[in-house]
Formats: sequence, C-alpha cells, structure tokens
Amino acid sequence: MTLSVPPTEALCSLRWNAERQVVEIIDQTLLPHGLHWCELQSLESYCHAISTMQVRGAPLIGITAAFGLAQALALNPTMEHLQRASAALLATRPTAVNLRWALEAVTAAVHDLEPPNRAAAALAAAQLLRTRDIANCARIGEHGLLLLRAIKPAGPLNIMTHCNAGWLATVQWGTALAPIYKAHAAGIPVHVWVSETRPRNQGMHLTAWELQRAGVPCTLVADNSCGQLLRRGAVDCVLVGSDRTAANGDVCNKIGTYLKALAARANGVPFYAALPESTIDWRCASGDDIPIEERTESEVLAVTGVDARGQRQELVLAGSGARAHNPAFDITPAALVTALVTEYGSFEASAEGLARLRSQMSSSSPM
Ligand code: MRU
Repeated sequence: MTLSVPPTEALCSLRWNAERQVVEIIDQTLLPHGLHWCELQSLESYCHAISTMQVRGAPLIGITAAFGLAQALALNPTMEHLQRASAALLATRPTAVNLRWALEAVTAAVHDLEPPNRAAAALAAAQLLRTRDIANCARIGEHGLLLLRAIKPAGPLNIMTHCNAGWLATVQWGTALAPIYKAHAAGIPVHVWVSETRPRNQGMHLTAWELQRAGVPCTLVADNSCGQLLRRGAVDCVLVGSDRTAANGDVCNKIGTYLKALAARANGVPFYAALPESTIDWRCASGDDIPIEERTESEVLAVTGVDARGQRQELVLAGSGARAHNPAFDITPAALVTALVTEYGSFEASAEGLARLRSQMSSSSPM
C-alpha cells in the first residue's frame, strides 16, 4: 500500500487516545516486520519504551518523555514526585538533548501551579510540544526543499541518508526525510540511498520502510558502501538528522555519520544536517561536551530478524568470547557540515551561524 505524503494523523509515531486517556506509540522494535501500537500507562512503561527504543529519534524521545512526566503528575502531583519522575526519564538515554529540553518545558509549565492543576497543565504542555513538532518538521521540510531545488542533477536527485530521521523519529514528517517527502510531493524525481546503520539497523528497518510506504524510490546499502557511492558521483547530497548540535555547530548524530561527512567533503558533495531548534544544546560549547551513549555489546555481536515463518529470532554472529565496543553516536565537526536546516531556515554550521539563528528565534516565529 502506498500512503499519501505527508503521513496521516492515523499513522504518526505517537498519538493521544482521548477516550482511554493514554498515549499510544508504534513499537519500533517490531518494524519493519509488524506494525503494532502499544499503550503507555505508567512512568515505568514510558522509561522502558525510551530505553529499549520502542520509541527513538531525538524529537520523539523528548515528546514521549513530556507525556511520561504528565502521566506521573496525574498519579502524584507533588513537586518531589515530578523531580523523581523527571530524573528517571532523563536517565533513559543520554545523548538526545530533546529529552532534557522537553522535561524542562513541562516542568516550567507546572512550576507555579497548585498541585490539583498540575497534571492537566502538564498534559496540555506535552500536547503542545507534539503539535509544534509536527509544524516545525513541516517547516524544516520547506527550508530543506529550497536546498534540494538548488541542486540541478542530470537525472533523479540522489540523496544519501543515515539512520532514521523520518516521521518515526519525530511525530510526523521527520527532519532529514521531511525535505525528501516535500520534494517527492512536488514532483521532483528523488532517489534515496539508505545506509543500513549497523548495529541497530534503523536505516534498514525504519527509513527504508517509511520511504517505501510513501512511494519514494530508495535503495538500501551496507554502511561500508557509502564512501564508494560518494566517490563515483552517485550522490548529489547527504542529508541526516541530529541528536544534539553544539553551540559551535558540531553535529552529534548516529554512529557512522562522521564517516559520511568526511567522504562527502573529500568528494565535493554537500552535507546537510536537519534539526529543530530543540536539538541545539546552547550549553555545549562544542561536540566534545556531548555525552555519547554506550550501548550493550550484544547489539554488535548478534542480530534480530524474522525467519521464513515470520518468527522473530536472534542470531549470534560473533565467535564465542568475542567482545565489542558500541558507541551509539559520533560527532561531525561543524567544518564538514555545509548547512544546518532548521524550522527557522538554513544556517551556517558555526557559532556565528547559530547566533544568527538565535537572534531570528527571538525576533520572529519560524518561517
Ligand atoms: O538511537 P536512535 O535511533 O534514537 O538515533 C536516532 C538518530 O540518530 C537520528 O538520526 C536522530 O535522532 C535525528 S532524528 C530526527
């Protein structure tokens, strides 16, 4: 089935079930082999969903945490409980700064209220973050589309992406995939090189699934193929998301992003990072200040998929006793980033470029 672009409200990554008063998420650990929604009903289930990556992607992690904090306040509206719940949610994943940003936004919304009013205000704040995320991603799509239109390829526009920065990583549209959906909808012939993104394979499991369902032509490649594709002129631009961007423009994104940026620069191919302002950590002077999540070595040593009968199976790939190192993100220095594409427009990846973004934020609304 080919879905319309953009994805419909019925097929977003996270939704509020008003009748049951619960949040529902797509369990992304089961994609692409099954599309299953599950309810988050307790603080523990929110923490579990984020830490096990049933939800993942920087903006979606933040929005999920915001609803989790609202849920915690519905059970106990004291500020002590809010602080405990916030600390538990914050501890789930360390790199994506949207998590901290969303928890701080919800906390600010309830801080001055009497306890009986806090839960409703927190829920309203979480709903607002969700609505704004959809609007901001759509704007990122429009600004990114301007950059894509400026490229004049002989044939289809070949875009390389990494990990998943589509609507599964946000609520709708995505960050890096938003300009691609906009270009496709505008009738621009696009083709996307999707790198598998070892070890958790978000490119293969999520990005390819999203693009296929939207009818956007795409081809999966092993991560190691990307340098050769860039070298032989098969890529017109690289477009990725970000989990945290430092105040000097250094971009933290899924492990493997840095190698693509190096190969893009060596071959004169533009490298764009698309991100909402909520992904910029103004408190981090450079990428060196960003905490990089270390994940379990079993993600490298084994793979999970389905067998011929559709049953989920884990297969151990490495020899007995093998050890692995598994950093989940890397830093791409600002000097390798052609531009940062945000809801406020595209900016140079530098302290000066981000200062311009900041002054635009204070003087205008996005777009
Ligand atoms: O470990 P994940 O799957 O949460 O990592 C996600 C990414 O690295 C995305 O590229 C990033 O969050 C940008 S998504 C809008």
